[in-house]
Amino acid sequence: MAATDDFDPEYDPEPHRILLPSLSDSPTVHSACCLALSTPLLAHLASLFPPAPRLILSIGSGYGLLEALLLAPPYRFNIIGVEVQPSSNTHLPRTHHRVVAGSRFLEPLAAEAEAWMFVYPRRVGLVEEYLHEYGARKLRVVVWVGPTADWEDYKGVFGGWEVNVQGADKVGGRAWEIVAVARKDTMASEQSVA
Ligand SMILES: C[S@@+](CC[C@H](N)C(=O)[O-])C[C@H]1O[C@@H](n2cnc3c(N)ncnc32)[C@H](O)[C@@H]1O
Repeated sequence: MAATDDFDPEYDPEPHRILLPSLSDSPTVHSACCLALSTPLLAHLASLFPPAPRLILSIGSGYGLLEALLLAPPYRFNIIGVEVQPSSNTHLPRTHHRVVAGSRFLEPLAAEAEAWMFVYPRRVGLVEEYLHEYGARKLRVVVWVGPTADWEDYKGVFGGWEVNVQGADKVGGRAWEIVAVARKDTMASEQSVA
């Protein structure tokens, strides 16, 4: 008989079993992600990130579907999703999910991550604040994905970075979305530490 005194509601002995959808070659909308997903788009995003155990932080991960797909085989990235409390997360296991107290709060783990991902962020200031606070640590690449119309507001944040912007339709997404990849300009950063 179980000893009732030992009951701990926070204790979760089983790994989170989450069913992930199968993706196809064409971008498909899933209720748990703003971005239409496809196998080629996942493969493209995967090509941008450092392999595990190097850390990727997805800031504003929502339901965590995209992040859970990147965490699962075949990719197995070390990706952690950050959401505002109370989190809408339904796909990421606890070990790969962090919460912040409000939309103005930042997750300090950003200092340890080599890559950040922002998918459909709501506020330019959030990207700016993260870059200001933690952008000079281990960060090498920021992947921004969202509507083409929004990118105009965000692109100025990456002054001094090497930025590559592609229509998502070129890499397996929808025509009105953009995948922007900002890398630290290695020459500039080497000079600044010299
Ligand atoms: C438009 S939703 C996109 C969610 C998800 N990336 C997707 O594509 O489905 C933006 C998300 O950013 C989250 N968010 C806003 N401020 C945040 C913050 N400071 N830290 C983490 N997440 C934040 C919101 O709670 C919201 O879930």
